[in-house]
Amino acid sequence: MIYKGKTVKIPIGKTIFTGETCFFKNRYYGVTLLLSKPRYGKTSLTKDISCDLTVFRRVAVFDLYEEWERHVLYFNPKAKYPKRWLNAKVVKNFAFKISDYNHPSDWASMGIADFGAKILADLAERIDIHYDNPEEFLKLTQRLPYSEDAMVAFNRKYKDVGLTLVSPYHEVTLRSINSRLPFLLDFFKQKGDGKLYVEDWPKLFLKHNLIISMTGRTEEEKFRAMALTGKIMEKIAPYLKQLKPALIFEEADTFFPDQKALRRRFKGQVSPSSLNKGLEYVTKFQKRGVSVFLISQSEKLLNASMTKFSNSRILGKIPEDDLNYDITKKLKWKPDSNYRQFILLDETGSWTPFVPNIAGCKV
Ligand SMILES: Nc1ncnc2c1ncn2[C@@H]1O[C@H](COP(=O)(O)OP(=O)(O)O)[C@@H](O)[C@H]1O
Ligand SMILES: [Mg+2]
Repeated sequence: MIYKGKTVKIPIGKTIFTGETCFFKNRYYGVTLLLSKPRYGKTSLTKDISCDLTVFRRVAVFDLYEEWERHVLYFNPKAKYPKRWLNAKVVKNFAFKISDYNHPSDWASMGIADFGAKILADLAERIDIHYDNPEEFLKLTQRLPYSEDAMVAFNRKYKDVGLTLVSPYHEVTLRSINSRLPFLLDFFKQKGDGKLYVEDWPKLFLKHNLIISMTGRTEEEKFRAMALTGKIMEKIAPYLKQLKPALIFEEADTFFPDQKALRRRFKGQVSPSSLNKGLEYVTKFQKRGVSVFLISQSEKLLNASMTKFSNSRILGKIPEDDLNYDITKKLKWKPDSNYRQFILLDETGSWTPFVPNIAGCKV
């Protein structure tokens, strides 16, 4: 499939007043927010749209609940036009090596603050010392010195491999690293652990539409999902021009949290890798060609620096304190009869209320 960047109009439902087909325009670039309360139908609608997207461009979804793999590979027999993802591949139970996490923001994603993140990013590159073995990496960090004497001993031990410290670290920093790191060890690829290690993410993206399944139910799993997502986005960034993918982020607020969540979950100044990458994707990488879909329950949960670059929105019922609440408050939702109304706010600012089609794939 070669996608050159043509804009495509995808039928998503019936316009409420006119009964005409309501189309969603997908350009090679752009950011679309899909917002609604839980169970309203935002994911189902995005799944339906994504089936059409796979016909003409590369698509990948970052999924936290193993939900997409259960649905978009299968036709919905109840749909008028049953459809499913073409050329799909599920990627799950995968990991990166410690040495892949060589930016402080990678470690910030895993909940390690500031100077700790910088220390780990530097040490991560020393494969000659830790061999990408998490236990060895932990041993190394546990040996880091906070006194002059300990530093002399440390430097003597690592002299042969050329690791020399010029001053000891702060005790507080080391304590925070060493209290957190033991919980992260199974985040990393280790020989013989059965986890998938993708040598070449761009190649995988070139070949398939991807369901990147990560599990993100617990707080710990969410840290891992951020680190994985940030890293994948980093690895494919140089190939965006060629790939021009549509990237879908399920529960996007996990990857791109608002300021309040950032302060609560991430103590430091270094911001998490997934957020850094997300910001690049919705700003300077737009010209390379990437269409971003952010699914969330509320705009307020999403990082405002990212949402301000959105050019279209699909809104169901949303919380009262959300932007655009006024135009959504009259929408009708009857879960018992599987009926719902959405509003499409397009890039020109015009808005269209519509009833979505029964999703073409399983939902
Ligand atoms: N377009 C649709 N076609 C068919 N069923 C739908 C559609 N939208 C929602 N549903 C039904 O509603 C349920 C909840 O929708 P879902 O998309 O999971 O909600 P949300 O992602 O907003 O929490 C789905 O499991 C499905 O049964
Ligand atoms: Mg959902």
